Amino acid sequence: MKIFASIYQWLDDRLALGRLYDQSIGHRIPASASSWFYVFGSATLACLAIQLVTGTCLALVYVPSPEFAYASIEYLDYTQPFGWLLRGLHFWGSNFMVALVTIHMIQVFLFGAYKYPRELTWVVGSTLFLCVIAMAFTGQGLRFDQDGYWGLEIVMSILGRIPFVGMEATHLVQGSPIISGATLSRFFTIHVFVVPAVIISLLVIHIRLVLLMGISEYPVAGKKIDPETYREDYEKLVERTGERLMPEGGGKDLVFTALILTAIVTCAVVIGPKIPNGPADPSLIHTVPRPDFYFLSLFAVFALMPPYMESFSIVYLLPLSIVILFAVPFISRGQERHWSKRPGAIITVVLVMTSLVILAYEGLTSPWSPHMNAWSGVPIQPQFVQGRTPLEHVGATIVQGKQCRNCHSIDGTGGKRGPDLSGVATRLTYNQLVRQVLQGDGNMPAFGRHLSPYEVTALVSFLHTLHPENEPPSQNSAPEAAPPLSTDPY
Ligand code: HEC
Repeated sequence: MKIFASIYQWLDDRLALGRLYDQSIGHRIPASASSWFYVFGSATLACLAIQLVTGTCLALVYVPSPEFAYASIEYLDYTQPFGWLLRGLHFWGSNFMVALVTIHMIQVFLFGAYKYPRELTWVVGSTLFLCVIAMAFTGQGLRFDQDGYWGLEIVMSILGRIPFVGMEATHLVQGSPIISGATLSRFFTIHVFVVPAVIISLLVIHIRLVLLMGISEYPVAGKKIDPETYREDYEKLVERTGERLMPEGGGKDLVFTALILTAIVTCAVVIGPKIPNGPADPSLIHTVPRPDFYFLSLFAVFALMPPYMESFSIVYLLPLSIVILFAVPFISRGQERHWSKRPGAIITVVLVMTSLVILAYEGLTSPWSPHMNAWSGVPIQPQFVQGRTPLEHVGATIVQGKQCRNCHSIDGTGGKRGPDLSGVATRLTYNQLVRQVLQGDGNMPAFGRHLSPYEVTALVSFLHTLHPENEPPSQNSAPEAAPPLSTDPY
């Protein structure tokens, strides 16, 4: 025993362990803060710990490359001993973390705990919330299955709508004009290094703020916060009736955290990890991708919204709602903390949560983003097929059925990543069109492997008709030697 005492003495001498304890888990909190309503923050922290440990283990096996990502997930699921359990824990850990951080924020909101002097704690906490969402999103992308892939596609097209810099931002994030190996590497780095580093740094600040400002006392209806006297009163309250967080006040935190950990392990063992739903294949546009539950509401919003509202809400409403989230302590400046005196707060929570739940439910069944579908599937406008040959009609159908219009518009409708194809025949000759479609270009995927020779002929015959009446299509200066596709290996 004595030896332990002297080791402790030696360490304490150098690390000031006693003072560390006093200032951290041993600090005094108001007795009223030892409540079942106050357990969500610490449980979120426990989830983070699970995510860090399981995530590190997963990263040892996962391969962030488009060829092997999906296979390495399957390897984890079926070959690597306990790989499925790691994936299960990581998947359920993330689900619980998103849920708990949300409940934590609702509790802080309803208890008015973001008010003076804890405004900054709320702002840092909201940033942490966004980071958790970023982790959930990038993690889903790393599965690189259909869901993950189309999740990336949708967010990329969201980015692409930012005025002026959208295209550059998309290229920067994707690392290439399309979702590719570079994109996956970036998402891996963001998921494994960047966001976790931000989370840990912000968490240090968040917890320091919690310790410095003290855990808020349980609100009492009618008791107002007066910035002049609040801190002094709080000090007195904690002096008089407070208790230490550990071992006295934090008992409920420990019980709740233990329950959550048990729930995560149970879900991981009984339900297991999310089985990836088929490798990502960009040419399959008729899939039914579904995001993980936390994105279902957002997914439903975009799926159900009329397409003409999409850009507006993406560019303005989404950032606006984030700004409002951060601004909560500065908008709601009333001195009353108790929810019974803040009907607005209750209505806000009820409205927001009801809409999220209804939308998430809709998201389970709604047809997926009609805009993406619309881009790829919108019929070619009649004036572009009038008087065309049957072969050219087939070509028009291929443009409609393949994902050309995710990136290209025709007469203004469609994606904006590639040039508008309305007058493409005036810019490229027949042979150049064939080459463009088969081999792609730095900025366009090669379709050679996804189209039969017949389809290429039809497609290019159609593209070749896309020119204004008074402007003939481009011609080779030399006469065309042979029908271009007869010798083509495809
Ligand atoms: C992932 C986005 C994407 C998809 C999908 C896509 N393209 Fe492209 N396409 C581009 C980009 C970007 C360019 C511009 C080429 C460059 O930057 O070098 C381009 C260029 C072209 C051009 C040359 C246009 C010009 O004016 O120079 C043609 C023709 C073309 N694409 C046809 C198609 C067809 C047909 C399909 C469907 C089978 C298709 N593209 C699918 C991105 C795409």
